[in-house]
Amino acid sequence: MLSGRAPARWIGTSFKMTKTRAEAVAFARTLREALGPDGVPGVRPFVLPPATALAEVAAALGPGSPVLAGAQNAHWEDAGPWTGEISVPQAADAGARIVEIGHSERRAHFGETDATVRLKVASALRHGLIPLVCCGEEAGVHARGDSAAHVLAQVAAALDGVEDATRVLIAYEPVWAIGERGREPHPGEIADVVAALRDAHGSRVGGILYGGSVTERNAAALLGVDGVDGLFVGRAAWRIEGFLALLATAASARVTAS
Ligand code: 13P
Repeated sequence: MLSGRAPARWIGTSFKMTKTRAEAVAFARTLREALGPDGVPGVRPFVLPPATALAEVAAALGPGSPVLAGAQNAHWEDAGPWTGEISVPQAADAGARIVEIGHSERRAHFGETDATVRLKVASALRHGLIPLVCCGEEAGVHARGDSAAHVLAQVAAALDGVEDATRVLIAYEPVWAIGERGREPHPGEIADVVAALRDAHGSRVGGILYGGSVTERNAAALLGVDGVDGLFVGRAAWRIEGFLALLATAASARVTAS
């Protein structure tokens, strides 16, 4: 259940623009077999395949799966002349229960702005999906020490007009930490921004996740940062063994924390 502080650790992956349908479905099938109907106690996994594989991945996970399937993006309008786009109702029709919004790759390359992020959050909430709102600062902002202010402004814009944010997840993903060219953060480097997010929004959103160069090695330390409710992972979770290892880490981290 999503209310106030998330009772479980969120561990999710976006496949970004990787995997064929067969590869994505094989991942989902193995995940289903490994987790069974009850999943991992205290952990809420989610998988965001490419749109081409969403329906098949959702079907392979099965109805009532402990793993949420979701979309990496969706348009703010329900339908219309928006060539190449997919709406939130269409994503939901394909099995999405969560929709990622405002990833830095989309902001950098596809014209995503705070304004479009806000419209997409509203659409996701209108249609009963969980919006996973990405925020994060570029290296220059980080170097100037302005990370928290930058990220808080992004999230304030995303949640503008949202009365009930209990379904919203926030993913703090510093741009300088993401992907092949990213630099793995020391836990202390993200602590201030996570604390700022927690202080500003922690009591009203469903959870605050960290993403960017998460690995099996650093996952426990990043989960240990005060205010981090989960991890949003790219490369380290694209092999099923990596994803399962991260789920196990989250399960044991929770036990340690309580
Ligand atoms: P990496 O884990 O590959 O750095 O990617 C993080 C990310 O962008 C998740 O959306």
